[in-house]
Formats: sequence, C-alpha cells, structure tokens
Amino acid sequence: MARIVLVSGSLRRHSVNSAALATIRGILDRYDGEFHITEIRVADLPHYDEDLDVGPGPAAVSAARELLIASDAAIISTPSYNGAMTGTLKNALDWLSRPWKASSLSGKPVALLTASPGRYGGADAQPDTRRVLERCGAVLIDHARVAIGNAEFLVGRDGTITEPSVVAELQGLVEATVAAVRGRHRLPVAA
Ligand code: FNR
Repeated sequence: MARIVLVSGSLRRHSVNSAALATIRGILDRYDGEFHITEIRVADLPHYDEDLDVGPGPAAVSAARELLIASDAAIISTPSYNGAMTGTLKNALDWLSRPWKASSLSGKPVALLTASPGRYGGADAQPDTRRVLERCGAVLIDHARVAIGNAEFLVGRDGTITEPSVVAELQGLVEATVAAVRGRHRLPVAA
C-alpha cells in the first residue's frame, strides 16, 4: 500500500492548516484503501541541536525520519508567520534534512499548501518554503497553487472544510499527489 505523510506547520488546536489536512485525509480515504495515511507532528520534535543529532538521534526524530523515508509522498500545510513557514516546521525540516547527504526528504515528492485567516491565505510563505524543501532534496509536486484565505470561516464543526471551491482546490492537489505516487510505483516498461 502506498504511504502518504501529512505535516501541519501549526501547533494550534483549531489550526486551519490542520483542518485543510483533515479535509485532504478525507479525500484520500475515498481512494478505496489505496493509501495509508500517517502524520508527522512537528510539536514532537525537540529544538534542533547538532549535539543531539548523533546516531539515530532522539526517538521522535528517528521515528519521523523513518516514517518519511518509508513514505511515497508528503503533503505539507503551513501558515505564514511573517512571510515564511512557521519556526516549528522549519525546525522539523532541519531535523529531516540530516544526516548530511542522507536527507529523509531526498527525492521525496512533496505537495505544499498554505492557509490563514488573512485574505491571501499565507501565500507569501510559499516561495521560501519551496526553496527550503528543494534545498532539503524534496521534489515539489506540480500542482496549482493552493493558498486558502479567510480560512477560519471555512472550517466546520467536524474540523474539515466543506466550501466547494476550496474542496475542489484540495482535490486538485490530491490528484497531483496521487499521480506522483502512482508514477513512483509504476514498473518500468519492458523493452
Ligand atoms: C501570523 N499570522 C500571519 N498571517 C498572514 O497571513 N501573514 C503573516 O505574515 C502572518 N504572520 C504571523 C506571525 C505570527 C508570529 C503569528 C502567530 C501569526 C496569522 C496566522 O496566519 C494565523 O495565526 C493562522 O491562524 C495560523 O494558522 P493556523 O494555526 O490556524 O493553522
């Protein structure tokens, strides 16, 4: 079974980014069990410290690295904090990018979205986040930009988003991710 890891850049209980990922999880569930969905919780990772980054490192770090390495793709949703990803997400990417030359993100297809209560949906965090992901070795999945604005008005009681236009955007991101995952699993055509 193909594996997809979800990562929210926000620790907030009522995070709109986590709500967007919960919505994505619901969309992926409709693929008849084709995907096993897991989550890396950035709050579980300590502050990056090179002194701690020896051998397998802290248990939460090695678990996150193993989860990512075993996955076929990751979907990351982050707020913009002053025009960049959150510090906690950057901290997680720093852990996942090590050891040097053995990044867990190396060659990993990654879809990126942002969400915020602001009208621009945290879009200004996307360029830097993409640049950092690429520096860590990730391969950004080609999909239309998703930046969900006014997001706190879109989350329902069940913690997901049902607004049709946003669901359609998330559906497009999921379809691009599914195509990337299926492409990785496709066997080479015999000559
Ligand atoms: C923000 N927020 C914010 N929003 C935005 O659209 N552009 C920005 O530059 C910032 N900067 C910023 C900095 C800091 C330190 C905080 C705490 C917040 C608002 C932010 O988007 C809002 O808190 C979102 O709700 C965060 O997303 P979650 O937690 O709901 O997923």
